[in-house]
Amino acid sequence: MGILRGTYLSYIKAEKICFTYNPGKPFINCLDIELKTGQFCSIMGPNGSGKTTIGKLLVGILKPSSGNIFIDGNDISKMSLGHIGSKVGYLFQNPAFQIFAATVFEELSFIMTLKDYDKDYIESEVDRVLALLHMEDKKFSSTFSLSYGQKQRLALAGILLNKPHYLILDEPTTGLDILRKQVLAAVLKELMNMGAGITVFTHDYEFIKNFGGRILKMDRGVIIEDRIE
Ligand SMILES: Nc1ncnc2c1ncn2[C@@H]1O[C@H](COP(=O)(O)OP(=O)(O)OP(=O)(O)O)[C@@H](O)[C@H]1O
Ligand SMILES: [Mg+2]
Repeated sequence: MGILRGTYLSYIKAEKICFTYNPGKPFINCLDIELKTGQFCSIMGPNGSGKTTIGKLLVGILKPSSGNIFIDGNDISKMSLGHIGSKVGYLFQNPAFQIFAATVFEELSFIMTLKDYDKDYIESEVDRVLALLHMEDKKFSSTFSLSYGQKQRLALAGILLNKPHYLILDEPTTGLDILRKQVLAAVLKELMNMGAGITVFTHDYEFIKNFGGRILKMDRGVIIEDRIE
């Protein structure tokens, strides 16, 4: 069985979304964006251009003031965050925000316990995602002792337990050295080969040029370029 539940051509679609942090000063004004599976997409732009804001809108953490967002044809305003998370995994800009438990095994099994699975199944799923992220040897490590890159892969492991079709990663290479970036690139390529759609919000062109695919450029809440490399 693969990690994902199949592949779709079109996945996340935002139509005419508007959003503001300060009433009277729209930040995102009538933005359209469509992200498809089978394609690596990078969304680039300077600090404050709105990358994190758009990522959070696409997974329902922030709500648009108008416009609609669909995941595989379903309007996310009618879906719970848990339901959205089972379809689209979202890696926060700081992975430490996504880690709560004392050990790697507890962190991952806790996510599974929420779903009421039996103990053996939970352990086999935890082993599966740890193997996928090359972290088998960290299974019983304290989460506190993990390096930044390992915390990031643990957060990603937790996301992959949900078997999402689509992954959105916000600045996944910040704080990673060249070797850790190579590990992350290899993991993302493996997930792509399994059929996942991946969007990376980043400043790091050196990283994303490994993948080819689509590059969107943002500036002040607007998409100013959309090209395939
Ligand atoms: N919670 C908030 N309240 C008010 N303004 C915010 C909030 N979060 C972000 N902003 C503002 O919204 C704009 C877009 O921020 P956002 O974090 O989406 O940009 P970004 O492209 O992800 O930046 P970075 O590259 O630094 O991560 C910025 O001007 C930022 O100051
Ligand atoms: Mg950001």
